[in-house]
Amino acid sequence: MNNAPIGIFDSGLGGLSVLREIRALLPQESLIYVADSKYAPYGEKPEHFVEARTLQVCEWLVAQGCKALVIACNTATMHAVQTLREKLALPIIGVEPGLKPAAAASRSKVVGVLATGNTLKSAKFGRLLASLEGESRFLCEAGVGLVPLIEQGDVDGPAVREKLTTYLTPMLEAGADTLVLGCTHYPFLSDTVRELVGDRLTLVDTGDAIARQLRRKLAEHDMAASADAVPSDRYTSTKDAAHLRAMAAALLHVDAPAETLVIEPAPAFD
Ligand code: DGL
Repeated sequence: MNNAPIGIFDSGLGGLSVLREIRALLPQESLIYVADSKYAPYGEKPEHFVEARTLQVCEWLVAQGCKALVIACNTATMHAVQTLREKLALPIIGVEPGLKPAAAASRSKVVGVLATGNTLKSAKFGRLLASLEGESRFLCEAGVGLVPLIEQGDVDGPAVREKLTTYLTPMLEAGADTLVLGCTHYPFLSDTVRELVGDRLTLVDTGDAIARQLRRKLAEHDMAASADAVPSDRYTSTKDAAHLRAMAAALLHVDAPAETLVIEPAPAFD
């Protein structure tokens, strides 16, 4: 069991930003990555679809023999983690926008939060915001349109720059000095954000915290891979394996074979 793989799931390519941190921290673990790119973006789908589809993909990962799951998607975590924990009997690590570390890092106590619309309107996010009341002022903005561009491999083109400028300018004007990258796709925009805003914003993403949380959970359940384990990774996409392979090469500098995955039918969304 200890040398069984860890499942990492995202609506698309964003979870690769989390996989990168897990790979670096836990080099002996085997990983199975699922990009549900056929159905991305989740951030703009009905919430019950996000919940049902996340469960469906995670059941597939369990059937592959995974010992633990990382929901490397804020939107899916917000809408489905509770259901997953009720239905699946294995450690499940979710992600949430890093509001707490951002509030701690901010000197102006004005923090911008860029996340998907579905994350921002979820009850779980509302509770997170309420728990930090008084710590900072949070200026929340839905990054509409960014995920589809990143899915195409565009992380610095004119459309990306235009959208980022639209979303970040009001935050800067309101005195924000810290920006939460509240969607796992957005760390791939870090260099472009830097070019646009210089050092006026400290960027906060939670990829490394998730990797550390995973390491803690594996230790707690006595599930860590043995020191002599030879890891083998699988990269899968519900849309286009060749594109996933190209993107993993471009974004992570890994050359890994990828598989196209069929998990159908998708739950109806209306
Ligand atoms: N990467 C996802 C997140 O962290 C969602 C992107 C999407 O499908 O909208 O929220």
